[in-house]
Amino acid sequence: MTNSITIGTPLSPSATKVMLLGSGELGKEVIIALQRLGVETIAVDRYPNAPGHQVAHRAHVINMADGAALRALIEQEKPHLVVPEIEAIATAKLVEIEKEGLARVIPTARAAQLTMHREGIRRLAAETLGLPASPYKFADSLEELCAAIDGYIGYPCVIKPVMSSSGKGQSKVDNAGEVEAAWNYAASGSRVNQGRVIVEGFIAFDYEITQLTVRAVGSNGEIETHFCEPIGHVQVHGDYVESWQPQAMSPLALQRSRDIAKKVTDDLGGLGIFGVELFIKGDEVWFSEVSPRPHDTGMVTMCSQVQSEFELHARAILGLPVNTALRAPGASAVIYGQLEEKGIAFIGVDEALRVPQSDLRLFGKPESFKKRRMGVALANGKDTDEARTRAKLAAGKVRTVKS
Ligand SMILES: Nc1ncnc2c1ncn2[C@@H]1O[C@H](COP(=O)(O)OP(=O)(O)OP(=O)(O)O)[C@@H](O)[C@H]1O
Ligand SMILES: [Mg+2]
Repeated sequence: MTNSITIGTPLSPSATKVMLLGSGELGKEVIIALQRLGVETIAVDRYPNAPGHQVAHRAHVINMADGAALRALIEQEKPHLVVPEIEAIATAKLVEIEKEGLARVIPTARAAQLTMHREGIRRLAAETLGLPASPYKFADSLEELCAAIDGYIGYPCVIKPVMSSSGKGQSKVDNAGEVEAAWNYAASGSRVNQGRVIVEGFIAFDYEITQLTVRAVGSNGEIETHFCEPIGHVQVHGDYVESWQPQAMSPLALQRSRDIAKKVTDDLGGLGIFGVELFIKGDEVWFSEVSPRPHDTGMVTMCSQVQSEFELHARAILGLPVNTALRAPGASAVIYGQLEEKGIAFIGVDEALRVPQSDLRLFGKPESFKKRRMGVALANGKDTDEARTRAKLAAGKVRTVKS
């Protein structure tokens, strides 16, 4: 039996306190959802004035990969819940903190630890749970990488640092002449320069989805699994540019996707939302990876669902009931920085919002890079085709200028 958390009064001794580790655009929305439920929020990031810092009760700037600094902050703030929003955290320290009962880690410290590393989650999914996944090998040197490709994986294949996100350091390789450049690129894109890569067989999928999966407490006190409608998306260089919901799927592919999502989230455990990434070809489904937190492609749910993925996460982690129902077909399209500047201004916001059934989120990031995600356009339509057209149109109206 799992009980819901009592919600107190923020900024008083009875406060229910939640700390976000990572306060980007996803953390910001989780904080807003928590604030609406009367939770005291603490936003942590590696740089000042991160999006979530701007809406939380308190903001801290620390290196979250530094275990001692992380522990000191948790001892100082004494949050009831610690909610990782990013992967690059001293997760071994979170395991320790959870074990000592200092705070509850969402969904579990083990889930945060396993999913920050491609090797941890891939071996769990493919070897322990027996889920279908692309063929893969790990390599610690260029020689090992070449041997893995020649002896087992073949071409085309995808090479990625074992610790990275948003497609950083990742490349598709079509022939032997491209392997060395991919190896060097992976080493440069790795968060922690470990010089270890995963090489995966390339899956020529028809489309890919994020299956948002929520573990929440039901009326009988037991944890139940809820599925959102599948989200389709387009990735460019391993980074999401567009998403929509619902993605049309064959009943068998949908059933298989949900079976995979159930198995992996059952194993990771705890409460909260997970983004299970899957590749689909006909009725065939491959597991790719899973985020034990809201997913960037799930930003579409801010317009397409009754409760967005952020509201679902906030409710689930507090032990409250969730509703994963679709509200209307919707789509999201990313707005990039377009400039390398601090303190940029956005123009065309008015024109963007004149697109029928559209909406915008501008994240408020203090510094822009050409390909940094600075905002997202959202739109509804009679179907996802119309919603996608509108979201892309709205995103394209927003331009950035030096202020
Ligand atoms: N084995 C594969 N076969 C085909 N496409 C792949 C494969 N691996 C990755 N991709 C493509 O690259 C994208 C990014 O890969 P992956 O999710 O592993 O990287 P990531 O850096 O963790 O990205 P993110 O953090 O944005 O989810 C996938 O969504 C898919 O489009
Ligand atoms: Mg991914």
